[in-house]
Amino acid sequence: MAKLKLANIDDVVNGEMIQSTINNKNYLIAKIDNTIYVTSDMCTHEDAELTMGCLDGTKVKCPLHGSFFDLTSGKALNEPAEDPIIIYKTEIKNNQIFIDD
Ligand code: FES
Repeated sequence: MAKLKLANIDDVVNGEMIQSTINNKNYLIAKIDNTIYVTSDMCTHEDAELTMGCLDGTKVKCPLHGSFFDLTSGKALNEPAEDPIIIYKTEIKNNQIFIDD
């Protein structure tokens, strides 16, 4: 499986998140307690980019209707969203953030 480079680790401030767009696909990259989390950047309820929302520890809140998603499991924690977001296994190499393509 090929590795996809998303960003430099220094592009993400600890406690914040950024969006990375690769091959027309948006990814959410968050750094919490210096751990990197990568997920899909689309709410599973309607079309809302989660990077437009806000972080609460390892949870991200959708900007549209307020569902929280757990960045560690992808699970939707409250309605109206029910389905999980996609979680990507990350690898840090030479200060670059990679996921499996
Ligand atoms: S679009 Fe995210 S909770 Fe509705």
